Amino acid sequence: MLANIPATQTVIEIKAPGGPEMLVPATRPVPEPRAGEVLIRIAGAGVNRADCLQRMGRYPMPPGAPDIPGLECSGTVVKLGDGVSEWRTGEQVCALMIGDGYGEYAAVPAVQCLPVPQGVDLIDAGGLPETSCTVWTNVFERMHLRPGEVFLVQGGSSGIGVTSIQLAKAFGCKVLATAGSDEKCRACRDYGADVAINYRTQDFVAVGKEFTSGRGVDAILDMVGGDYIPRQIELLAHEGRLCFVALMAGAKVEVDFGAIQRKHLTVTGSTLRSRSVAQKASIIAALREKVWPLWAAGKLRTFTYRRFPLKDAAEAHRLMESSTHIGKILLVP
Ligand SMILES: NC(=O)c1ccc[n+]([C@@H]2O[C@H](COP(=O)([O-])OP(=O)(O)OC[C@H]3O[C@@H](n4cnc5c(N)ncnc54)[C@H](OP(=O)(O)O)[C@@H]3O)[C@@H](O)[C@H]2O)c1
Repeated sequence: MLANIPATQTVIEIKAPGGPEMLVPATRPVPEPRAGEVLIRIAGAGVNRADCLQRMGRYPMPPGAPDIPGLECSGTVVKLGDGVSEWRTGEQVCALMIGDGYGEYAAVPAVQCLPVPQGVDLIDAGGLPETSCTVWTNVFERMHLRPGEVFLVQGGSSGIGVTSIQLAKAFGCKVLATAGSDEKCRACRDYGADVAINYRTQDFVAVGKEFTSGRGVDAILDMVGGDYIPRQIELLAHEGRLCFVALMAGAKVEVDFGAIQRKHLTVTGSTLRSRSVAQKASIIAALREKVWPLWAAGKLRTFTYRRFPLKDAAEAHRLMESSTHIGKILLVP
C-alpha cells in the first residue's frame, strides 16, 4: 500500500438536474477498494456526452451507478482490494468506469483497467477507455468490420469518431467520416479518414455511393439517428451493417424494412455503461490483445482537445455542448 492516501477528496457533484452550473465541487470520503477492486489516484478523466445527459437528469442510470459522473479515468493504483493479483500499487492504468471519474480517487474493478499504452501521456490516457471500448464492441464485435471493407462513421470528429477512424484504418479498411465543419473534416482526414464529408454542405449518401462506385458501404457507426436512418439503409451495400451508439436526432422514423430484407442488412446497437463487470472485462481483454499493441507500434495517436482543472467541470460541459471541440475533453484533478 502507498502511504498518504487522504480520508477525503474533492469530487464534482450534480447539485440538481440542470445546466453546467449544477456541477459543483464537494468533499466526499476516499473510497475503500472492495474485493476485486483497485483504488486509483486519478490523473485525468474523460468527459463524455453521457455525462451531460446525466447532469440534465436525462440519462437512464443503470442500477448500482454512483451519482458522481465520469465514465473513464487514468492514474496510479494506490491500494488493492482483496483478491486483486493483476495490478500492483504504483502501476499506471486507465480504466472504464460506471461513474465516479469526476474526483481525485476512485475504486474500480481491477478487470476494467488497462495499462497506460506505450508512448501515451498519463493524463491523455484518461480519455481512451470509453471510446476504445465503445468502438471495439460495436464496430468489431457487433458489426464484424473486416479488412478491405468500407466503413462510415457519423460524427467523425467526436471522441468516438476519431477512435473509430484510427482503428478502422489500422485494421485495413477504407474510412468515410461526416462532420459539421470544414475544420472538423480536416481533422477527420488528419486522423486517417480517406474521405471527410461536411454534412452541412454535402450529402453523405451521394458521396458514399460515388466512393464505392454505386455498391454502397459495408458498415456504418451512427450516433445521429433521426432522418439519417432511412438514408443509411439506402447507402448500405448488400450484407451491410448499421450500428447505433446514440440517436441524438431521434429514435422514431419511418423506414422501408423491405430494403433490410432485400439487401441482407443487419441493424444493431448497444450501450456500454449498463453492461456487467464480466462483459466489460471481456471487452477490456480484447482491447489489450488486439488494440493496445497498435499503440506500441505507433499506429494510433491520442486526441485530447483540451484539459480543464477538475473544479472547472462546468466549463468542460459548456465546451462539449458547444460542439466546437475535436476529440476528447479531459478533467485534471
Ligand atoms: N452506446 C454507447 O455505448 C456509447 C458510448 C459512448 C458514447 N456514446 C455516444 O456517442 C456519441 C459521441 O460521444 P462523444 O462523447 O464522443 O461526444 P461528442 O464528442 O460530443 O460527439 C458528438 C458528435 O456528434 C456530431 N454530430 C451531431 N449531429 C450530427 C449530424 N447530424 N451528422 C453528423 N454528426 C453529427 C457532432 O459533430 P458536429 O458538431 O460537427 O455536428 C459531434 O462530433 C454521443 O452521442 C454519446 O452519447 C455511446
